[in-house]
Amino acid sequence: IKIVRARDYADMSRKAANIISAQVILKPNCVLGLATGDSPIGTYDQLIDWYKKGDVDFSQVSTYNLDEYFGIADDDPQSYHYFMNKHFFDHINIDPKNVHVPAGSNTDVDEVCASFDKMVADAGFCDLQLLGIGRNGHIGFNEPDDVFSKGTHCVNLTESTIEANSRLFEREEDVPRRAYTMGVQTIMNARSILVVANGEKKAQAVHDMCFGPVTPQCPASILQLHTNVTVVADDEALALCK
Ligand code: F6R
Repeated sequence: IKIVRARDYADMSRKAANIISAQVILKPNCVLGLATGDSPIGTYDQLIDWYKKGDVDFSQVSTYNLDEYFGIADDDPQSYHYFMNKHFFDHINIDPKNVHVPAGSNTDVDEVCASFDKMVADAGFCDLQLLGIGRNGHIGFNEPDDVFSKGTHCVNLTESTIEANSRLFEREEDVPRRAYTMGVQTIMNARSILVVANGEKKAQAVHDMCFGPVTPQCPASILQLHTNVTVVADDEALALCK
């Protein structure tokens, strides 16, 4: 794992956006795996800025998002579909038919998972997968478990994730309890992986991801077995990585 130290959130976001824009410049029709959450918002903002300046062109890019809440409409403001449109897709020249987010509104779990896996595989898997990391070391919604997951599946979110996500909802009981997520194997099939992490709340997870034992109890630790992983993190998130 290559660790890139950033001063703060803005610096982390610019560095991550630089890596993504280099990917798009080198391979204009690349496949990007994308994440939601607070960590990548600044990265998306920077990419939007460079798009508006004419420095990066998304017209041939296709994207696959990691996850989506189960049983939520695409246009629900809490959905990850909505998040991605608001924070990224509405502001760049990506072709909507090249955008893929698991169909949270479809409660036929087998159908959603099989079709998402097939789409990602047919696209040849991701050239670059952008990830945030959960405080408990989750990637996508692959929570600590006894085994590493493989393909797309529907998970029960842990209490700590529900609590962390509740900041975005009016009441904690409104936070969905289940979500679709790409599996760990699908994430590992990406040719390069870029993790963004900031803030002291991520320090333990970032340490365990980079230096802890490779264990499904910290799903991100499997990234140690991938040959092309870059972690861009700020000083606070790297506080335990001496
Ligand atoms: C989001 C996702 C999650 C987040 C993680 C960190 O698509 O897959 O794994 O990356 O929960 O969230 P933030 O960035 O909000 O701290």
